[in-house]
Amino acid sequence: MKVPQRLKPLVEEGLVDEVLSQLMSGKEATVYVVRSGDSIRCAKVYKDAKQRSFKNAVSYTEGRKVKNSRQARAMEKGTRYGRQMQEELWQNAEVDALFRLANAGVRVPQPYICTDGVLLMELVTDAEGDVAPRLNDVELTPERARECHAYLINQVVRMLCAGIIHGDLSEYNILMAADGPVIIDLPQAVDAAGNNEARPMLLRDVQNLAVYFGQFAPELLATDFGKEIWKLYEAGELTPEYALTGQFEADTTPVDMAGLMHEIEETRREQEALLRRLQERQD
Ligand SMILES: Nc1ncnc2c1ncn2[C@@H]1O[C@H](COP(=O)(O)OP(=O)(O)O)[C@@H](O)[C@H]1O
Ligand SMILES: [Mg+2]
Repeated sequence: MKVPQRLKPLVEEGLVDEVLSQLMSGKEATVYVVRSGDSIRCAKVYKDAKQRSFKNAVSYTEGRKVKNSRQARAMEKGTRYGRQMQEELWQNAEVDALFRLANAGVRVPQPYICTDGVLLMELVTDAEGDVAPRLNDVELTPERARECHAYLINQVVRMLCAGIIHGDLSEYNILMAADGPVIIDLPQAVDAAGNNEARPMLLRDVQNLAVYFGQFAPELLATDFGKEIWKLYEAGELTPEYALTGQFEADTTPVDMAGLMHEIEETRREQEALLRRLQERQD
């Protein structure tokens, strides 16, 4: 196909030789299948900030680092330079997360480069070598649903161990590849340690998985992996090998037995006194 305007810089730089087809055009990005030498790859072209929706919200970008205070001030003031910085930070967040996650053993598309507002990465394919379908477009048996759910919970744990929360995990951002589920779409990925919304975001990601796979294996609806995972993470005890139960027991502070006995005794005396007064009145 004709090379789209936004991909021209990559063709000129020799990063892309041919644009084969357009895969998707969503709210946040347009995705193309491209050829680089002998390899078929995926090019994700980010849309302008103006066209994007929720993902730029403060809750997602909180805790992200800027290089210096000049950039921070420019971003606060919303100058042109500031907006440009914000844009770069946003686009680099996905490629940064992909590199970190690939290194942490999470199955994500292999990233190659992010330049000129385009992320070049591995094209995720199914067993036939076609573009992998989204989880949402696949029928699952209860067994397969349980298997994928368990696998993805472990992927979420691995991500958290690497300090990252997806923040928009759902059946639309998981591809069913030849080698199993692959998590995609990470520009809004959240820094687990530096963000106040980290816990609710993790709980929501995990809940989304339970609700989706629960359609095929209803017992998954009764699990609560999110709170269990977060508690272990906070205690510094979370590892990818940890045997999770999926059950969460709320913390109960140890009971003050002496105090409790005292209260019972008090109540008993009060009751006795009340009974006595009632008795006296009747007499
Ligand atoms: N690496 C990839 N391999 C195959 N398909 C992909 C890849 N990345 C994205 N896609 C396809 O493009 C769609 C949009 O990409 P995504 O990263 O989710 O961006 P958006 O922010 O627009 O949702 C995905 O739902 C998926 O179908
Ligand atoms: Mg998406």
